[in-house]
Amino acid sequence: MTVFAEALDDIALLRWYDGVGADECVGETPVDRFAADAARQARRAEQARPRAAPSPTARAAPSPPAPTAAPPSAATEGAAAAAARAHSLDQLRQVLEGFDGCPLKVTATNTVFGEGAADAALMVVGEAPGADEDRQGRPFCGVSGRLLDDMLASIGFDRSTAYITNVVPWRPPGNRKPTPAEVAVCVPFIERHVALIAPKVLLLVGGLAASTLLGATEGITRLRGQWRAHQPAGGQHEIAAMPTFHPAYLLRTPEAKRLAWRDLLAIKARLEA
Ligand code: URA
Repeated sequence: MTVFAEALDDIALLRWYDGVGADECVGETPVDRFAADAARQARRAEQARPRAAPSPTARAAPSPPAPTAAPPSAATEGAAAAAARAHSLDQLRQVLEGFDGCPLKVTATNTVFGEGAADAALMVVGEAPGADEDRQGRPFCGVSGRLLDDMLASIGFDRSTAYITNVVPWRPPGNRKPTPAEVAVCVPFIERHVALIAPKVLLLVGGLAASTLLGATEGITRLRGQWRAHQPAGGQHEIAAMPTFHPAYLLRTPEAKRLAWRDLLAIKARLEA
């Protein structure tokens, strides 16, 4: 890394960072990970060294310090308890903004909650915010959001009549996929979000939204185009859900747009029936 940094000029170095997905500054001061590694190895070697048997008067070794980060299951339980306290969208937003159990929040600029009509018949759920969404604190406000707007307009909706949100409300650094542990912590919040909106139809864009809210194991190519049911956690009526391709995928694969168009027409027909 140091060799690279010296060899490249500043612009080239920034381009390289961008290329490898390092587009966030997560600390004010640089950390020399090689030095930290060397110290860790020295500590391990010291711990592995054979020791003299303790004298009978030696005190018991202190117990190891408690882990500082909650294990995923504890964080998920905390999320479930927090989400259950929200009885309105405003309360859910407050609860989410005050929740510190997801590590993605540390690197995100904003909590991207959701927007649209609180009584929308159609609720769109995506994956996680990207760079534009993180900056503006609004879901789907970047390039793929523009395509989503067109998709919604084609069936008579816009941002004020539909409701739009994501499974994960914090941007994963470098737009990487959220890990299963990160998703697990966010599940109680998105489930509560869906229960509070209680739409007639859920449009699940992309594989993560479909697998999270349907519990499906198939990929989005198999799932899309078929009506499924989302089972709300609080025992409310199930909600009809249509999985389809994510707009970002459609931008990369325009030939798949005709299939997404079919899925949108199926939604329109269902809502008009
Ligand atoms: N992709 C998503 O899944 N959600 C957004 O809000 C933006 C891009």
